[in-house]
Parts: sequence; C-alpha cells; structure tokens
Amino acid sequence: MAKDPGRVLIFDTTLRDGEQSPGASLNLEEKLAIAHQLARLGVDVIEAGFPFASQGDFAAVQKIAEQVGGDDGPIICGLARASKADIKACSDAIAPAPKKRIHTFIATSDIHLEHKLRKSRKDVLQIVPDMVNYARSLAEDVEFSCEDAARSDPEFLYEIINVAISAGASTINIPDTVGYTTPSEFGDLIKGINEKVPNINDAVLSVHGHNDLGLAVANFLEAVKNGARQLECTINGIGERAGNAALEELVMALHVRRRFYNPFFNRHPNSPTPLTGVRTEEITKTSRLVSNLTGMVVQPNKAIVGANAFAHESGIHQDGVLKNRLTYEIVDARTVGLLDNKISLGKLSGRSAVRARLEELGYDLSREDLNEAFLRFKDLADRKREITDRDLEAIVSEQVMQPEARFQLHLVQVSCGTALKPTATVTLADQDGREQTTVALGTGPVDAVCKALNALAGVPNELIEFSVKSVTEGIDALGEVTIRLRSDGQIFSGHSADTDVVVAAAQAYVNALNRLVSSEKLGSIHPQRDVVKANL
Ligand code: KIV
Ligand code: ZN
Repeated sequence: MAKDPGRVLIFDTTLRDGEQSPGASLNLEEKLAIAHQLARLGVDVIEAGFPFASQGDFAAVQKIAEQVGGDDGPIICGLARASKADIKACSDAIAPAPKKRIHTFIATSDIHLEHKLRKSRKDVLQIVPDMVNYARSLAEDVEFSCEDAARSDPEFLYEIINVAISAGASTINIPDTVGYTTPSEFGDLIKGINEKVPNINDAVLSVHGHNDLGLAVANFLEAVKNGARQLECTINGIGERAGNAALEELVMALHVRRRFYNPFFNRHPNSPTPLTGVRTEEITKTSRLVSNLTGMVVQPNKAIVGANAFAHESGIHQDGVLKNRLTYEIVDARTVGLLDNKISLGKLSGRSAVRARLEELGYDLSREDLNEAFLRFKDLADRKREITDRDLEAIVSEQVMQPEARFQLHLVQVSCGTALKPTATVTLADQDGREQTTVALGTGPVDAVCKALNALAGVPNELIEFSVKSVTEGIDALGEVTIRLRSDGQIFSGHSADTDVVVAAAQAYVNALNRLVSSEKLGSIHPQRDVVKANL
C-alpha cells in the first residue's frame, strides 16, 4: 500500500491547471492574492504555475515561493514537462520557498505516445528515470505524473511508476486527463497500482482528474477508498474544458461523510479527527476571491459554493428547516464560512474599516491600491446606501489590482430610447494620458459602446460573451458585467461593476482589452499541448 500520511493531502492546482482554462488568466498580483488565501485555507500543496511557460509565469511562481511558502505553510510546487530545461526553470522558480516540490510529467497512454509524443513505450521508460533523477538532483521533493493514466495500459503504468519511485519520486500522480474514467474503474486502477507496484509504499499515491463527464469528484472519492492520499483539485472546479475536480466538494464530502470514510483510513467510524487539513470556514471566501479575480462565474446551483447551495426557496423546505435544520440541510452554512454579512459598511465608514474588511475577504492591498479602493468605495457610498462584501469585492477585483493599463476609460456617454438610434461617445486615454474620442452607432447602447471602443483601441478581437447580473439586491444595486473576448485563439475576460450598467460594460470591455494587450499567454508555452523539443 502506498505511503499513508494518515489523512488526505490537498494539492491545489487553481493557479496552474485552473489558470489554463480559457479566459481565466491572472496577473501577478492576483495570483499572489489567491496563493495567500489558499495558505489561509490550509491546503497542503500549492501548484503555483508552469515556470517554463513564460517570464511572467516564472516570476509569479517565484514571488509565491518567496511570499507564501513558510515553514508551517504549504509546499510550493511548480510543473515541468519531462525535460531538463523545464525542470531547471521550475527548480529556480520555487527556490525561495522553504518547502518546495518539482512536479514533472510525461504521457503514458498509447494514444498520446503515438500521436502527441511520437515516442515508444521504451523511450518513455528511459526518459522517466532520467528526468526524475535530474529533478531529485535539484529538489528533495519530486512528484511524477503519468499523463492520461486513466487511458494507459495498467501493466505499462506499473512499470513506469516502479522506475519513477526507484529514481526518487515521493509522490506518484494518476491523472484522468480527459475526464473519461468512471468511479469503479478509477478505484480499480488505484487498487491495481497499490497491489502490483512493488515499491509503491515508498510514495504517496495522488489523483488528478477532469470533469468532462461530471464524474471527477466521484472518481476521486472512489480512489480515496482504494488508497489515494493526495487529491489534486481546484477552487470552484475551474480548469481546462469542463474543469478539474472541485476542492470544496471533495473537502466537504470527506467532512460531512467522515463516518463513512474513516474506516478506509483505519479509523473508528466515529473518529472526530478531520480527514483533510482544510479550514472549511475559509471555503466561501476563497471561492469568491477566485471567481472575482478569474472572471469565472460560479453557477448558482453549484454544490457548496453556488448562490443557491444553502437557499431554501420552496415553502415545504423552509418550514422543515425552521422546525429542524436537519430535515433538508446536510451542511450548516457557517461550516463553509457563509455568514450573513450583508450590511457591512456605509458612507461614514473610514479607511481602516475598509482595509480591515478587505483583508478579511482575502485582499491584502498595497498602499496605492488601498487608496484607489477607498476612493472607489467613497464614490459608491455616495450612490448606494449599504456597501456589502460583494460590492467591495466587485470594486477591488477588476479596477484596483491591475497593472499599468494600456487603455483608460475617460468618458462614456450614450443616447438611446424608442425614438433614437443608439449612439455612444467614448474617450480613451493611452499610457501617456493622450486622449482620443470617437462616436459609434450600434444595435443597442452596449453594442454602440463596444464599437466605439474597438475603433479607438485598434486591437483585433471578437466579443464572444456579454453577461450582466446584479451584485446585490435593491434598485441601487451594482450591475456586474462580464465580457469575454477572443483574439488569436485565446480568450480574455474582463469584468466591472457600476450602478450604471452601460458604464460597467464599457469598463469591463476596456479591462478585457487591457488583459489582452498585456497578456503573457499570447506566445507562451502550454505544458500539455506543446511537446518538448529535447528531453535532455
Ligand atoms: O490533466 C493532466 O493530466 C495534468 C497533468 C499535467 C498532471 O494536468
Ligand atoms: Zn489536468
């Protein structure tokens, strides 16, 4: 049986696999804020990025290693393909962290070998020990993943895992890269590895999985029953395509159903000891932070963190819950940190109150950013009686934590109505403050604004999504607009909130354009789609 840490280790890959999802790209300041919050959440490992991808990715992993990894904090990990150049870049980027890990991988399924790597099984059997050995010469803690393991020949997997452990890997990760497996199949695969790999008790067995068939969490829980002791997951389940296994669902399943899972850890069913090290009360805050900063909206009916997850709309349920909560509720909302904090701040609130609340929400702002946030707070407080946490998050996430913006929105004005052709006048300023103004007609006011902005920015792009929702209730609520643009095959999102939805739309569009022009993603390397030129 694989090495057993006595509980499940939570390996968060929001900043690596999550950030690989289209439109979710984050800047350095945003990645740092999320990493700090993940540390507060109590994850065991933060996979901070893929350092070889670009200078920006390298710098972000390095900053997280410097600032977030502590002696009592999480291990900071970087991803590297099975190539010396990748592994070296990874080792350099994670160097400042007291506890660090190199995570290297290569595909093992015949379909990947033939069509992606164009290598034989024999080639891979040679590359794996060479690369794990090399990684071990640079770091004590090395994880090895067999990409597309769920579609690999199990006999070949056993051989690969055996050589990876002999070369020094202390964590072996089994990914369901394409979200293809089913719970019983995945459980059997983990069981087979535990039984057939002779040196498996020298490594922790980990799982990683995508949600293409909506089975990722169920697959992981079956893996846990069969001895998997590290789960690789993301906040809100964000990630490539249908996403990754959702951290909050896994943690809460193991928390709420502890009596069921305890025996698989050789514990008495009633043992109260938690099965993960996660502080569940930080879950809601972390979910919101990730959603706000990535622009990946959480579906209302999403388990644990969706807006309706704890809402009891139907009369029968409300009556039952009032008589006894247990009739229809299996999780107390307070366990995941969902407190009723609607009325938090108002017009008379001072700067320190705003800062304290932002810090509680996971936003640790620099002096300049706090100044900017406070100005925006005051401006909003003049227009809106009560400022909720949601309002504060909306103010900060898109308008404050941004690097030097190429485009600044200086003016937006629209005329529209039943008797008018929608017309927008827009003024954009560049980095040197030079202003340009133009007028455009559209099918509606937002279309007119976007046309005018595009004419001024001159950056080719296609608008692929536009959505508006109200941040809180009430007629004076902020309208939150999310925009997604496509350019050169990449997706960029921008969002913004204002009591005027046309202004919010214009600002969201400008934010998305700014992300597009400053993106590190254009021209950067994708760890799974781009094949290494030379392993050695
Ligand atoms: O899905 C996958 O296989 C991965 C690996 C790189 C671990 O993300
Ligand atoms: Zn993945």
